[in-house]
Amino acid sequence: YKQISRYKSTSSHSFNDFGPGNHQNKNTGAAAQNKHVHKPYKEMQRAKRAQAHRSVLINTSSSISVPLIYKECRQYGKINHVCHFKDEKNSVLIEFASPSSVRELLSSASHFQNPQNIPVQSRLLHFQPRDLLRSSVNKLKVHTVEPPKLELSRLHFAKTISDQMQMLHLTHQISDFDSRLHFFVCSCLEDSLSGLFPHCIVEPFGSSVNGFGKSGCDLDMEVDFLPNNKDSRFQTKSKSMKFRTNKHKGNEREFAQQILQVLGDVIQHFMPTCAGVHHILNARVPIVKFFHKASSLECDLAFKNPSASQMSELLYFFGEIDDRVRPLVATVKEWAHAKNLTRSNPGPWPSNFTLIMMVLFFLQSRRQPILPTFNHLHRLAGQDERIVIDGINFSFTTNLSRLPVTQNDEGLGELLMEFFNFYTTFDFTKYALSLNDGSATSKPDSAPLYIPNLFELGHNVSRNINDSHLLGLRHGMEAAVYSLETNSNRESNNWGILSILHPGDNERPIQMRVSDLFHQDNEEDLHTSNISEMNSDAGMADSEK
Ligand code: GTP
Ligand code: MG
Repeated sequence: YKQISRYKSTSSHSFNDFGPGNHQNKNTGAAAQNKHVHKPYKEMQRAKRAQAHRSVLINTSSSISVPLIYKECRQYGKINHVCHFKDEKNSVLIEFASPSSVRELLSSASHFQNPQNIPVQSRLLHFQPRDLLRSSVNKLKVHTVEPPKLELSRLHFAKTISDQMQMLHLTHQISDFDSRLHFFVCSCLEDSLSGLFPHCIVEPFGSSVNGFGKSGCDLDMEVDFLPNNKDSRFQTKSKSMKFRTNKHKGNEREFAQQILQVLGDVIQHFMPTCAGVHHILNARVPIVKFFHKASSLECDLAFKNPSASQMSELLYFFGEIDDRVRPLVATVKEWAHAKNLTRSNPGPWPSNFTLIMMVLFFLQSRRQPILPTFNHLHRLAGQDERIVIDGINFSFTTNLSRLPVTQNDEGLGELLMEFFNFYTTFDFTKYALSLNDGSATSKPDSAPLYIPNLFELGHNVSRNINDSHLLGLRHGMEAAVYSLETNSNRESNNWGILSILHPGDNERPIQMRVSDLFHQDNEEDLHTSNISEMNSDAGMADSEK
């Protein structure tokens, strides 16, 4: 990628030109331009789910015993992968080659002899070494993961702004260990529900899997008792024999609330190492929040929500289309956090999700588009990619080879600058950001920022944002342009993206008081308002129509 100073004029190119017929100038295809091997989302999910179900998470009081854990576990079968997370919990995540090894290990484990302990069985174990000295296991190799230290100062030594952005992305992205833990926690929940619901699936969605997550991000999960899946596991053999079951009362939403109430209670009372269980059921998307201590993950559990899972797959695919998408998103998210323009809790500020949508829209809007429009992906959907659930059409292709080549060769640094410039001049008062057709369309209402939900155009995914926070975002972008322009020289202390990632440095003074921009609201209300929007987008509130 080129440096930020190298601008290149591009020939005019309309959005509709981003069609299959327009790639004659290059024969390298979108897929060929990617340096990494494309892994389809569903394949990735399947592999990680299977991996998680073959894994156990064992903690121990001292890191000296880690090799002993490994030695003990090897007795139960071949180990595919072992990872030691070197924090105060000394967690060791062990993936066996075969699920039967897990079963054998669990059948040999015992419960603590304490009458107050509820004797639940799970794949979360504690290891108490009997005799440390006897062993010569120190030679055994265990992959050790240190808690992530994201030192921004390292960016100083990069050669170009594009390199800085790549480095930021690579150091911040979800690690293999994070990802394993996310899928592991889902698989443990599945285990606990499988007695009543053998086909039940608990899957991560959101930043854990959409390719835009940062190490340490929360874990969003959805539970589905009987996924309507083509998977052979769900194909029934007998047409005449049916299970007798109870009927639930009320509509889908009320059912989700009842189920989550029970699941929250089960998690609180029976699931090991789950704490701070909080039922948030009156939000329009009911969820249960809790902290999973063994993995140190903040978890949100929702009842099945096709919109959220399809959105995760779509975002993942957008990230796969071009190598520049994820580093650009990572830099924009990091900048917004550093400048307090967004926060991890929901509120009237842009969420990470909104920021991602803004970056994607910008990349669709380049004169030579880098990303195709959603309508284009929708039109290219093959027979096996057509999905309609509750009347909502979620069809889009995830086949890279069906996509044309982008002729855009702008560097990452250049794109970052252009991103900020694009939105400092965008007329938010008149226009919505339509990712469906990659263009600015008239706003249907007076919301300060309008980004139609890709699957349900009548819903605004950024409805939570108020005027002052949008203004704050815009001022932040103006300041970022200024900082990048005045710090492009590698000799300066905070050069390149360092100038926009350090709070307060080199910023042009802005007209508003910071307290005007970031007033604190009641956290519970904020959460509810964000979630309620999400539900309205997700089309889950049938009951409320
Ligand atoms: P983090 O801030 O890292 O957690 O990013 P995230 O993408 O996981 O966001 P969040 O946990 O808030 O939401 C999880 C997923 O729910 C997102 O990735 C989206 O797919 C979906 N989602 C979140 N907010 C909205 C919204 O406002 N509208 C809609 N339609 N979907 C949303
Ligand atoms: Mg999340």
